[in-house]
Amino acid sequence: MGQNNVHVVGTGTIGEPLIGILSVMKQQLGIDRVSFHKATARLTDRPKVRALVSKGALLASTPDTLDAFKKMGLEPQLTHTDAVAEARVIIDCTPVGNDNKEQLYKQYDDGSRVFIAQGSEFGFGKPYARGINDSVLSRGDDRFIQVVSCNTHNIAVLLKTIAGVNGGPGMLDNARFVCMRRASDISQSGSFVPGPEVGRHDDETFGTHHARDAVHLFRTLGHDLDLFSSAMKLNTQYMHAIHFAIKLNRPTNVEEVIRRLRDERRVSVTEKKSASQVFSFGRDHGIYGRILNQTVVSLPTLAVRRSNEVFGFCFTPQDGNSLLSSLSVAMWHMHPTGWDDRMRHLREYCFSEI
Ligand SMILES: NC(=O)c1ccc[n+]([C@@H]2O[C@H](COP(=O)([O-])OP(=O)(O)OC[C@H]3O[C@@H](n4cnc5c(N)ncnc54)[C@H](OP(=O)(O)O)[C@@H]3O)[C@@H](O)[C@H]2O)c1
Repeated sequence: MGQNNVHVVGTGTIGEPLIGILSVMKQQLGIDRVSFHKATARLTDRPKVRALVSKGALLASTPDTLDAFKKMGLEPQLTHTDAVAEARVIIDCTPVGNDNKEQLYKQYDDGSRVFIAQGSEFGFGKPYARGINDSVLSRGDDRFIQVVSCNTHNIAVLLKTIAGVNGGPGMLDNARFVCMRRASDISQSGSFVPGPEVGRHDDETFGTHHARDAVHLFRTLGHDLDLFSSAMKLNTQYMHAIHFAIKLNRPTNVEEVIRRLRDERRVSVTEKKSASQVFSFGRDHGIYGRILNQTVVSLPTLAVRRSNEVFGFCFTPQDGNSLLSSLSVAMWHMHPTGWDDRMRHLREYCFSEI
């Protein structure tokens, strides 16, 4: 080992652009080799695999799928287990990261590798979001990191900027969020909903996992926040939107809120009110069609009531913020002295205004 090899597991909405970004920015990010594991040898996915291989990424298979890939004209270059063994960073982008940890990753936990899983994999490891709790990552101790979900990133950065929850609990009294989720990703042809579909409050303390995960994220900084979230699905494929109601323990006004939002690099603000227009900007100017901001706040929707209750709507750059945090953990582990320098190469995809 010893080399800065990165192995990505999964080639879906998160995995595909991540493999692409790692491959085309290999030099800037100081990576020696990028490999990826695709679970299913599917003919419709052949062009995707070829496109990733043409960018320099190596396809890894298991003994079970080797022949099926070969039959499709694809040549896996290494086995999935060798790829894990030879990597310094393994980024799991599947909905089964916790299972993979139990079945495979734990065997390779000798301290030289870091394993990263995504939003659905609660309990995989320390929850993390770039710009929120970078200070709690501990080299040598943290080998399993869970990059929180896209909406959790959004909630977290709203709390950081509007309520000043950061090194200390800031001025937050409590906050409520309604996450209005797109029914499916644009890469998916299933999960269509014919109309708005409201969700249950499965968690009696936090409502849905969005607030729960944000609470766990801020607990790594020593704060216990009063948060509650609700969720529903909309019949759109564009972007999630969030309505927020953040109550502060001191007075504020709309101008101050806007100033605080503009001061945070990972927040974008917009005069737009339509998700399609914000999404379209990302398609035109983002990396792999994604902006890497953690939220896009719609300025015309901001309101302050009774001088301390802040209301508004924002859009979630769904996979973009998870990609940024996944890349951040990879850079943290591989470049102990040049972490932020490496991340600077991605800054142009965080827009102050959309
Ligand atoms: N979509 C988003 O906007 C978004 C945003 C933030 C976080 N996330 C998180 O990212 C993770 C992945 O989501 P996604 O949207 O990228 O999913 P996705 O598009 O459905 O892709 C899932 C990938 O995982 C692989 N996979 C599925 N089941 C597997 C299994 N049993 N063993 C091995 N590989 C398996 C699939 O491989 P094959 O196709 O080869 O079968 C596929 O490449 C989830 O934790 C999700 O919560 C997603």
